[in-house]
Amino acid sequence: MGIHKTITVNAQPNYEVIIGNDILDTIKINETVNQVAIIYTSHVEKIAKKVSKLITKMGFVVTEIKVPNSEIAKNIDVIGNCWNKLGKSKFTRSDLVVAIGGGATTDLAGFVAATWLRGIDFISIPTTLLGMVDAAVGGKTGINTASGKNLVGAFHNPIQVIVDLDNLKSLNKHDFTTGMAEVVKCGFIADERILHIIENYPQECKKYDGVEIPELVTRSIQVKADTVAKDFKETSSSKTGREILNYGHTLAHAIEKNEKYKWRHGDAVSVGMVFAAELALADGKLAPEIVQRHRDILKLVGLPISYKFGNFKKLIEIMALDKKSRGATLRFVILEDIAQPARLENPSFKVLNQAWERVSK
Ligand SMILES: NC(=O)c1ccc[n+]([C@@H]2O[C@H](COP(=O)([O-])OP(=O)(O)OC[C@H]3O[C@@H](n4cnc5c(N)ncnc54)[C@H](O)[C@@H]3O)[C@@H](O)[C@H]2O)c1
Ligand SMILES: [Zn+2]
Repeated sequence: MGIHKTITVNAQPNYEVIIGNDILDTIKINETVNQVAIIYTSHVEKIAKKVSKLITKMGFVVTEIKVPNSEIAKNIDVIGNCWNKLGKSKFTRSDLVVAIGGGATTDLAGFVAATWLRGIDFISIPTTLLGMVDAAVGGKTGINTASGKNLVGAFHNPIQVIVDLDNLKSLNKHDFTTGMAEVVKCGFIADERILHIIENYPQECKKYDGVEIPELVTRSIQVKADTVAKDFKETSSSKTGREILNYGHTLAHAIEKNEKYKWRHGDAVSVGMVFAAELALADGKLAPEIVQRHRDILKLVGLPISYKFGNFKKLIEIMALDKKSRGATLRFVILEDIAQPARLENPSFKVLNQAWERVSK
């Protein structure tokens, strides 16, 4: 019980990510704040009510804004409703938004905060594993449009992130498992200790209250915090820029699109990481044992390691259009070793196909 660790993210200004159990009362609200809007979904209503009570007790006026669950909430109509509610309650620049939910909700609520009066403060309380280790830290907020996912958004940092692991209790098993894909990713790109923990205590990494979960979540958030502190707006071209967080994501985005988003993000990232490892092997950059280690670890946590689909050329076309590949160049984050990410641009079809054959069977 209590705080496990506090991570300070280097930003302007710095903000704290507090990780622990039963820590909702660590929420810090400035005295200059008058009103607080809590943006949440029905799946986390209990948590939202608890936070609402806490904040009301602290003497602030609370407006509760319930938004639809998951991805469908990330659209202009829902944003419009949120703006209307802030307008009706006369929210000023010194007021505050609190986001409670998965990555979709924190992305949406963060964007509401980023845009209201050109930016007001917000606190993020992520309630999915993916939200905790990925979406809530790093300052990317946004919504989807008819042109694609996350194409409209803003960089807007929270002023505090509360990662209360007790909030994972109601999360379904599959959502928990898919969140582990980003944890494994952090292990491969930056922190081998994460991989050791999963290899040594796989059972403790499969349940939200496993003894290793606080450590895994903390280490993953640290990786994200360190990476975004160095490259907030993803402009760095160095080997350690924010782009490394995209490990496994080039093929993953193509799978998600190809499957019309019926595949969960983490499942696609899992296959994408095996593919990236196979690419690095085919290109002579990575040892076969490390490729095998990808498969072993991802299997241990219950993630998929293959994707059976007959039209690789179609996937290549989708990958070439991926916004993260900058222009029409095919571009992958690969590893040269554990915690040694590198970039692979325009690999030959032979290399691509060799890797594909090994993930598609
Ligand atoms: N901003 C970033 O840097 C960043 C990074 C990664 C992903 N994302 C975004 O995150 C989103 C995906 O996030 P996600 O995987 O958390 O999905 P999600 O937010 O859609 O949540 C999945 C489902 O779980 C429900 N839920 C959330 N917490 C729960 C809980 N504790 N108990 C029971 N149900 C709960 C949600 O209401 C939803 O129905 C995507 O929109 C993606 O674009 C953003
Ligand atoms: Zn991801």
